Amino acid sequence: MKKIAYLFAILAVLATACGGEKNNAESVKEKFKKKAPKSVAEMEKEYQKYNGIGPIKAFEMPAEIDQTLVDQGKTIFEAKCTACHKTTKKFIGPSPANILNRRNPAWVMNMILNPDEMTQKDPLAKQLLIEYNGSPMANQNLSEEEARSVLEYFRTLE
Ligand code: HEC
Repeated sequence: MKKIAYLFAILAVLATACGGEKNNAESVKEKFKKKAPKSVAEMEKEYQKYNGIGPIKAFEMPAEIDQTLVDQGKTIFEAKCTACHKTTKKFIGPSPANILNRRNPAWVMNMILNPDEMTQKDPLAKQLLIEYNGSPMANQNLSEEEARSVLEYFRTLE
């Protein structure tokens, strides 16, 4: 009889713990729903520090521009990106000029390296896809080093 009482006690604790967790996740979701900004422009303010989803967990931009990387990045951009991106204005996708004023560098690399998951799960990338009428950002299978060099090239665009 005592054993059964213990069992019930344990079950009760477990049930509360699980219930609590679920409530937490739900309440965060609710909070986000209520607070969810409506446009990319509104989200930018909130998400500038956000790294996005993908292989790049965090990235600090060095102060100096590395010209060798810039040249590599420019070559890659012209070969693999200009079908949809123009450096000076909006085209099929956004212009990357001044992108680091509105995005975190890790976010930009994750967008290049992992666009499918980003546009499915990252709140800002999802909104971007909507604002670009559902045209998806293409995965061009760049390596992390290649994405890094394109990022360096983006720094030089105004
Ligand atoms: C087939 C067209 C296409 C190609 C090719 C393409 N992109 Fe994109 N890209 C888009 C579209 C459309 C968006 C915006 C909508 C979205 O994110 O789905 C976008 C978004 C982006 C963003 C986010 C921009 C912002 O303002 O937040 C970055 C960064 C980017 N692309 C970089 C690249 C790079 C680098 C390449 C080449 C390696 C590339 N793209 C190739 C279509 C393309």
